[in-house]
Amino acid sequence: MNIFDYYTHLSVNDEGHLTIGGMDTVELAKTYGTPAYIMDENYIRNTCRTYLAAARKYFGADALPLYASKAFSCVGIYKIAAEEGMGIDCVSGGELYTAKVAGFPADKIYFHGNNKTDRDIRDAMDMGVGTFVVDNTDELYALNAIAAEKNVTQRILLRISPGIDPHTHKAVVTGSVDSKFGSAIETGQAMEIVKLAISLDNVRLVGLHCHIGSQIFDIEPFSDAADIMIRFIADIKRECGYEIDELNLGGGLGVPYTKHDRTVNYAEAIRDIAAVVTGFCRDSGICMPRVILEPGRSLVAASGITLYTVGSVKEIPGFKNYISVDGGMPDNPRYALYQSQYTAMIANRASQPDDYRATVAGRCCESGDLIGENMEIQKAQRGDILAVLTTGAYNYSMASNYNRIPRPPVILVKDGEARVLIRRETYEDIIKNDVL
Ligand code: LLP
Repeated sequence: MNIFDYYTHLSVNDEGHLTIGGMDTVELAKTYGTPAYIMDENYIRNTCRTYLAAARKYFGADALPLYASKAFSCVGIYKIAAEEGMGIDCVSGGELYTAKVAGFPADKIYFHGNNKTDRDIRDAMDMGVGTFVVDNTDELYALNAIAAEKNVTQRILLRISPGIDPHTHKAVVTGSVDSKFGSAIETGQAMEIVKLAISLDNVRLVGLHCHIGSQIFDIEPFSDAADIMIRFIADIKRECGYEIDELNLGGGLGVPYTKHDRTVNYAEAIRDIAAVVTGFCRDSGICMPRVILEPGRSLVAASGITLYTVGSVKEIPGFKNYISVDGGMPDNPRYALYQSQYTAMIANRASQPDDYRATVAGRCCESGDLIGENMEIQKAQRGDILAVLTTGAYNYSMASNYNRIPRPPVILVKDGEARVLIRRETYEDIIKNDVL
């Protein structure tokens, strides 16, 4: 795969500079400084539209994709998701608060998490969050009690673990029986929590949720999960006489990070998943539930790049070459955590051959602070702008202040215009909670 064929918002201009959303990245680096995350708004909006249109076309008019906002959360992205008609998945009080400040419609928020505190539950209810995705019985009792106190009946889904191995990195598998998430069908605990939910007065069980993992390229794990979930819905109907109206199939469709990766056509994937879901429902004798999808990475990852300035090029004869940049694991911990592969290029030499091999290192006091090892890249020198592609998901949202390094800004570009979505942190921000 040629990365520019797939990432049509990226290109190289006549000066040989990488562009994003029609803007020269070298100019963006000059204007906003480095490191900086740059995201293309049209890419995000178009991908939302693809998901919405395909979900409605293949699953029915009431289908709803939620943006799984752990991938990238800030006020601006919730505004975009709202404008596009998406729902959202929030997983913490902080994400809920951000969504609230953005004015996101609370009835389209699904509140996730395997350990919601009483405060989280109260805050979310006060906000009018539409649906809680309940992870376990302790949470269910707590939720029911708080709902009773507030004299409300809370709409809920139950998180179910279908016991699927989706062939992805073990840190991002979430649907297996021994997972910390949800209740497993295999152990009988899923049926127990369903019965408990039906028996409680202040929760209204409308559906089930499963999420099998992330960065998945095959349809098979999704159809296996759907098969298991639909059989379980049929079992609930048989055993409890209770109709499950909503099925949330989670997120997880993959994104190519390098030219060696596969690609996914999201509309076709939704079409294929819908075909099997419809078939399974027919075979199990249940009505087609309302289907919810929960993509995170695939909505934002490819929209984003990170720009750095090269500080040094070090060649260790007989060993390797290092290019050190002015960011690293604080703004992108994914190589350190998962050995995630990325595509990097020298943005001001983007038309030159990428026949140099270098390990791109950050500036933390730690050897594992790398963006990638032996990356194929153009020859570089101090002062060059180095771009890492596909950093729109799980980069800013996983960033830290390790070594007291301020987080970079997020700049949103659209049709040749740029605006700041998140300002660069300052040293004053870094010490703002320190007691002086
Ligand atoms: N729904 C639930 C309940 C989830 O736990 C997740 C992701 C999603 C939806 C969205 O999945 P996506 O479409 O983004 O694959 N930090 C890791 C990824 C962790 C994903 C956690 N859950 C990474 O950087 O690869």
